[in-house]
Amino acid sequence: MAVFQPNLFLLLPLVSVLVMAPDLAAGDNAAHLHFYMHDTLSGSTPSAVRVVRVSDSTVLGFGDVVVTDDPLTEGPDLRSAPVGRSQGLYAMVSQGTGDPALLLGVNLVFTEGTRNGSTLAVLGRDAVYLPVRELPVVGGSGVFRLARGYALIKTYSLNTTTGDAVLEWDVFVVQ
Ligand SMILES: *[C@@H]1O[C@H](CO)[C@@H](O)[C@H](O)[C@H]1NC(C)=O
Ligand SMILES: *[C@@H]1O[C@H](CO)[C@@H](O)[C@H](O)[C@H]1NC(C)=O
Repeated sequence: MAVFQPNLFLLLPLVSVLVMAPDLAAGDNAAHLHFYMHDTLSGSTPSAVRVVRVSDSTVLGFGDVVVTDDPLTEGPDLRSAPVGRSQGLYAMVSQGTGDPALLLGVNLVFTEGTRNGSTLAVLGRDAVYLPVRELPVVGGSGVFRLARGYALIKTYSLNTTTGDAVLEWDVFVVQ
């Protein structure tokens, strides 16, 4: 039996994908959005400002809070086509240094095409050192009214000196 157990573990991610897929198809509308978020703390016009600073460290400490109005673009380059903004905040809510986790609460505000003016609300735990973080999409407005779903977030690049980061988002919603 012991010989088979590792194989079962290898299959688990596949099984969860298969289980999730029918959920997505069940709604009247299903959408997959892919974009990059530019979270810039440095420079004269930052898109993210630390409004609560418990420690002097450049690294966020327990209790620090950052308010954001981050641009969202189609590609990882800030000059690529705009998609919208991520307006909200994040706070370091874990104590200790072993498993840093943010509470992320943002409104994704879309500014292009038929989605212009529509929003998605994301609220969840962002364990920043995990390669992929899953956060709930808890609602939406406009063309996303009554939406629910989840966002998968990956760190595309991070400047450890400034904290500036580019994050890759995949958002799956149904209505
Ligand atoms: C989005 O909507 C705003 C407000 O109605 C408008 O000013 C802007 O031009 C629109 N943008 C695009 C790309 O359609
Ligand atoms: C990080 O930002 C600093 C300050 O802007 C810059 O000097 C440095 O080159 C950046 N590092 C990387 C790896 O981009």
